[in-house]
Amino acid sequence: QVSWKLADHPTLPKGKTLALIVLDGWGEYKPDEYNCIHVAQTPTMDSLKQGAPEKWRLIRAHGQAVGLPTEDDMGNSEVGHNALGAGRIFAQGAKLVDIALASGKIYGGEGFKYISECFEKGTLHLIGLLSDGGVHSRLDQLQLLLKGASEHGAKRIRVHILTDGRDVLDGSSVGFVETLESDLAKLRENGVDARIASGGGRMYVTMDRYENDWDVVKRGWDAQVRGEAPHKFTNAVEAVKKLRENANDQYLPPFVIVDENEKAVGPIEDGDAVVTFNFRADRMVMLAKALEYQDFDKFDRVKVPKIRYAGMLQYDGELKLPGHYLVSPPEIDRTSGEYLVHNGVRTFACSETVKFGHVTFFWNGNRSGCFNPEMEEYVEIPSDVGITFNVQPKMKALEIGEKARDAILSRKFDQVRVNIPNGDMVGHTGDIQATVVACKAADEAVKMIIDAIEQVGGIYVVTADHGNAEDMVKRNKSGQPLYDKSGKLQILTSHTCQPVPIAIGGPGLAAGVRFRNDVPEGGLANVAATVMNLHGYVAPNDYEPTLIEVVNN
Ligand code: 3PG
Ligand code: CO
Repeated sequence: QVSWKLADHPTLPKGKTLALIVLDGWGEYKPDEYNCIHVAQTPTMDSLKQGAPEKWRLIRAHGQAVGLPTEDDMGNSEVGHNALGAGRIFAQGAKLVDIALASGKIYGGEGFKYISECFEKGTLHLIGLLSDGGVHSRLDQLQLLLKGASEHGAKRIRVHILTDGRDVLDGSSVGFVETLESDLAKLRENGVDARIASGGGRMYVTMDRYENDWDVVKRGWDAQVRGEAPHKFTNAVEAVKKLRENANDQYLPPFVIVDENEKAVGPIEDGDAVVTFNFRADRMVMLAKALEYQDFDKFDRVKVPKIRYAGMLQYDGELKLPGHYLVSPPEIDRTSGEYLVHNGVRTFACSETVKFGHVTFFWNGNRSGCFNPEMEEYVEIPSDVGITFNVQPKMKALEIGEKARDAILSRKFDQVRVNIPNGDMVGHTGDIQATVVACKAADEAVKMIIDAIEQVGGIYVVTADHGNAEDMVKRNKSGQPLYDKSGKLQILTSHTCQPVPIAIGGPGLAAGVRFRNDVPEGGLANVAATVMNLHGYVAPNDYEPTLIEVVNN
């Protein structure tokens, strides 16, 4: 039985309107021409920085600070928003899967037993992101799973690959496919009929999120389940090389691998087993619904084979989706959102579609919906569909700012929480000029929200979930930009390992509140207790410590 009542903060008052702004993909890095935040005009964020060290500081947003396996793991929005919302560091999917594979426990679990009953007669299909990015999936985990599944009886395996170029360098897909092909060849030598069956770029095929564009999932379905795609190849390395002539890894069109009679080698059939091997939820939920739900009207599936399906993890704890999974997800319970709602903090959360689940679903510990509809309002601004965000770098930043402003001025809410996506979503395109425009737009949205907070005498907390726009090139150890063989600058589309800023302020901030200097290693998970304090409460004991103190002057 959870006791939801939070203790009153000894000095800080309740009832101040608090704006909680998360800039997506906004880290701190040395100022040079590839730091788009530095290049862009960002007067609001610049002025917040002037408040250092009492009202502005840096916090950790990658590696173990957010529950990832190693310090080389860059941050990402899932683990970042989980930490921000939950106030504690949970071992995340990447790490839990590593442990389950290393111990072999994955093969003794309910999920694996469930799918393995198909191995005698059916095919095992593995669908997921093929890279070593470690954000949604990892190649080495797929390799171990392939080996383990074949040792545990899988005789026929088909892999449906999604090429990356977003969490890893563009162009790296070719190498990953070659590595996978050589693993599959080894399996074939051992008598397992193992092949790549289909593929496509992650942003164009399968890995949409938050129901932004079901066509993306449909394109994948047609290739993976029906064996139909506009492009047919007999070899996946060739496919990727050829399709890259007209598209980046992220956006490769769907293809199927066919035999000498032009017949697809691996559509999903009755009696087959399917595993989606991404551990991260947001971009697998839509496919999971298509695979799992009897009633489904998002697109015409045409063919609905009777399969046994398991996720690498369970992706949605509230929907219990999917019902079967190989590894139990982190149990992110008692999040700050749930506590605050129980203590009467009325909450408004908003972003545009592509980041909407970040400030709701991830924030609340990978849980759909709100805790108490009478206390909470979640507003989604529809994202532009079918474009890459470098052509629309302002995205919906100002619309998000307006919605937050109106929510603040309405005085109906105690917490107004937003995610402003630009630095991240445009940063991922690798378009430096567009990312500069994106950062400026994000800064303007911050200003709009802070101005509203000034009007109502409230408090603001501005932070970010991980780095991205502050560094757009791959660098050597001493920080020099790297060039490829042809002399071209290597553009970094991915996140970074940089720390992110956090700033506090506003007329409602009590006198004497400042950042403590005794939590130098503070990270995203320390923000929840900080915010609880600013709402007038003390965080639960097991939360990471608050970043602030109140000094008497
Ligand atoms: C994506 O899913 O777009 C990237 O892999 C990670 O970006 P995010 O963690 O910022 O959502
Ligand atoms: Co991102």
